[in-house]
Amino acid sequence: MTEREPLRIILLGAPGVGKGTQAKRLCEAFAIPHISTGDILRQHVQQQTELGKQAESLMTEGQLVPDDLILALVEERVKEPDTAHGFLFDGFPRTVPQALGLDAILDRFEARLDAIVALNVKDNILLSRLAARRSCPECGSVYNLVVHPPQSMDVCDHCGHHGLVRRDDDKPDTVKERLEVYYHHTRPLISYYLPTGRLHEIDADGPVADVFDAIMAALPGQA
Ligand code: AP5
Repeated sequence: MTEREPLRIILLGAPGVGKGTQAKRLCEAFAIPHISTGDILRQHVQQQTELGKQAESLMTEGQLVPDDLILALVEERVKEPDTAHGFLFDGFPRTVPQALGLDAILDRFEARLDAIVALNVKDNILLSRLAARRSCPECGSVYNLVVHPPQSMDVCDHCGHHGLVRRDDDKPDTVKERLEVYYHHTRPLISYYLPTGRLHEIDADGPVADVFDAIMAALPGQA
């Protein structure tokens, strides 16, 4: 069997656009690690590490964690041996300085990005998706009370945990703040990555399986 080239993907998009949902499927399809800076930060908050203590209030308010902390965390993560065949970044980079920092990290590893996938959905749909999102505090499985409810109310299909929770930052005022932060700091990454010729903008307002197919068709060597 021939070894395939590493695949390094960024998933960009507003809160609730479906990055985590698609990341899970893509990482299974390509057997690459899912690197979600949001998930890593939530683990730090839960464990009350130094980073977690610094990040907690910013996350609850819908603000970004400082770029230098994020870049240090990402550089440590990409040194792990499981990234040998690539990785998928979900929610990183989120600012132009983070994208510049990522370029420097990749240069040090003599690696390059293969695809930047930007998911797009109208704001009113983002708001309704986040209002209906619930997750399992035990295994991290994500549900949507409208389109993807658990089989048994409030019980995780995957691990059987009772008591699905709403994320602290999914409260309406915080979601509004997160959206503003997205348009101000993260959306400019579209212009940053456009000249690379590896940016793919995908309409993510459709069933999860259709969005997945559209991403797969856009990825290099998959059409
Ligand atoms: P993070 O955890 O990255 O949150 P986010 O980017 O705001 O994204 P979400 O996790 O809210 O949404 P998603 O796009 O993954 O959607 P999902 O698939 O769950 O970051 C949280 C915080 O951490 C930030 O605010 C910041 O403070 C900090 N942070 C993280 N990274 C940082 C960085 N790099 N720099 C600085 N700070 C950072 O889907 C949402 C819902 O919709 C679910 O219920 C799902 O079931 C449903 N759904 C998904 N797809 C579909 C579909 N196609 N149709 C219908 N429903 C769907």
